[in-house]
This record gives sequence, C-alpha cells and structure tokens, in this order.
Amino acid sequence: MDPLLNSAIEAAMRAYAPYSDFRVGAAVELHDSIVVTGSNQECSAFGASICAERVALSYAMATYPASKVHRIAIYSPESPEGISPCGVCREFIAECARRSEYDIEIVGLKGGKTVKISELLPQAFTFTK
Ligand code: THU
Repeated sequence: MDPLLNSAIEAAMRAYAPYSDFRVGAAVELHDSIVVTGSNQECSAFGASICAERVALSYAMATYPASKVHRIAIYSPESPEGISPCGVCREFIAECARRSEYDIEIVGLKGGKTVKISELLPQAFTFTK
C-alpha cells in the first residue's frame, strides 16, 4: 500500500466527527517528502466544521510556506472503497496547486485511482485584481 494512504488511514482515527459519524483522514506530501496529516473537525454549528483535506493543507501551508504540495491522500473508514474530495476542498486543493506550481495528485479515490486536481476540477475558480 502507498505509505501516504496509510498515513491518511491513521489520521482518520483522530477525526472529531460526533455529528456525522463520518471520519475522514488526509495526508499531504510536500516536495521534500515531509508528510502532514489532518482529520475532519466538526462543530455543533455545522457550517463551522472543517474537512480533513483543508485541515491538513492549511497546516502544511501555514507551517511550511515555502514548500510545494505534491500529493494528498484521503481515506474514510466509513467508505473504505475510497472517497472523493468535496467541491469546497477541490477549490482549496486547486489554490494550493497554484501556490505550489504543481498539479497536485489525489490518492484514495474509488477504484484505487490517483487523479490530478486539474482533472478533478478542470475549471477552478480564480480571479485577478
Ligand atoms: N468531509 C471531509 O472531511 N472531506 C470531504 O472531502 C468530504 C466530507 C467530512 C465533513 C464532515 O465532517 C463529514 O465528512 C461528513 O460530511
């Protein structure tokens, strides 16, 4: 198994998901092989809940701002056949891809597939000032 997916599996055990009972783990790999993990963190004000992908990516970019994100693995024990990032997370991954100047690969989708964010979200939102 891909070790990055294994890190996402472990991260899912640290999820805080008492409202949905749907735990998600994410593991981000940076260009220098550093791995940062995150898990979904829910809130009783549901809209304030944060997905595993954005927890991991925010921590990675905030801690290692000069690093480039190369891959993100995601896993849910409630959907062991694989999961797909939500729309908001796709936009966030696309932003990190622009910052990283790298077409981030997403690991852990159904069918064991790995896809690039440009394939998962071909026309990401962006604007110029
Ligand atoms: N969730 C994620 O962590 N990542 C996704 O890409 C989709 C959904 C979380 C949010 C919420 O805590 C739970 O899964 C159910 O939607």
